[in-house]
Amino acid sequence: MARIAYVDGRFLPISARAVAIEDRGLQFAHGVYEVIKAVGGRLLDLDRHLDRLDRSLAAIACPPPMARPALVLLLEELLRRNRLADATVYLQVSRGVAPRNHAWPEGLRPSFVATVRPARFPSPSEQREGVRVVTFPDERWARCDIKSIALLPNVLAKQKAVAAGCREAWLVDRDGLVTEGASSNAWIVDREGVLVTRPLGPAILGGVTRDVLLELARGAGIPVAERPFTVAEAVAAREAFLTSTTSLVLPVTRIDGAPVANGRPGTITRKLAALYAARCGLASATEE
Ligand code: PDD
Repeated sequence: MARIAYVDGRFLPISARAVAIEDRGLQFAHGVYEVIKAVGGRLLDLDRHLDRLDRSLAAIACPPPMARPALVLLLEELLRRNRLADATVYLQVSRGVAPRNHAWPEGLRPSFVATVRPARFPSPSEQREGVRVVTFPDERWARCDIKSIALLPNVLAKQKAVAAGCREAWLVDRDGLVTEGASSNAWIVDREGVLVTRPLGPAILGGVTRDVLLELARGAGIPVAERPFTVAEAVAAREAFLTSTTSLVLPVTRIDGAPVANGRPGTITRKLAALYAARCGLASATEE
């Protein structure tokens, strides 16, 4: 069945050429996006995602494309039209269509595109065995907390990671501290058994999965510290993993070719992966 997209008031085949040439998203990357997963037809952590969308929109001086209840109905309708229950939902809002000029006219209406695709979570073997990451300098801008569609440094780093046989690129700031992955947040369990991830701030995207996982960890009595860590500390850590809406909680077993601990997913990682999977209504491949 051909996939159906929503584009500014219309449901169209995904292959439709429906976006205006003078869309500011296309011309300037003046837009933001969200990625939400649906499991069994339920949009998970919807309010957290839509709250983040509102924050991103405010940061790029763009009003919401529609009121939240209408948006939710629309996403549900899109899932129905695509006959999908387990899906990745992608929404993108740009500042609208106007003759190309850096400044934009008053009253410009935002453009809105939503798509859905069958969910592609990490394979059971990736979840069981873990994945490799490779590090690169973080060449992004100073507002990585905005979920901007301007993703050039992210996609270039990801492509280099994939070419190196790795699942993800971990980005490293000028002080040698890991910021996050190209499309995920980065975590370690340090030598003292403390779960560590970089604090919120302009250097990272505040992941919805990150927030949820911090709550699950605290609820499970796992000590947590929101602080930055170096690549060397990550390699010497007891455990490492990454999180995102689509990658879930994924063990990281090698960093730049070096094994993390014994090169096997760690106990706390597997516990958190299981807790997160259960919360999402997904089967966990990491439980023994
Ligand atoms: N990426 N950091 C970056 C740079 C990201 O792009 C993402 C998500 C995350 C994790 O956020 P969340 O837990 O809310 O998914 C962190 C999405 C999945 C993407 O771009 O496809």
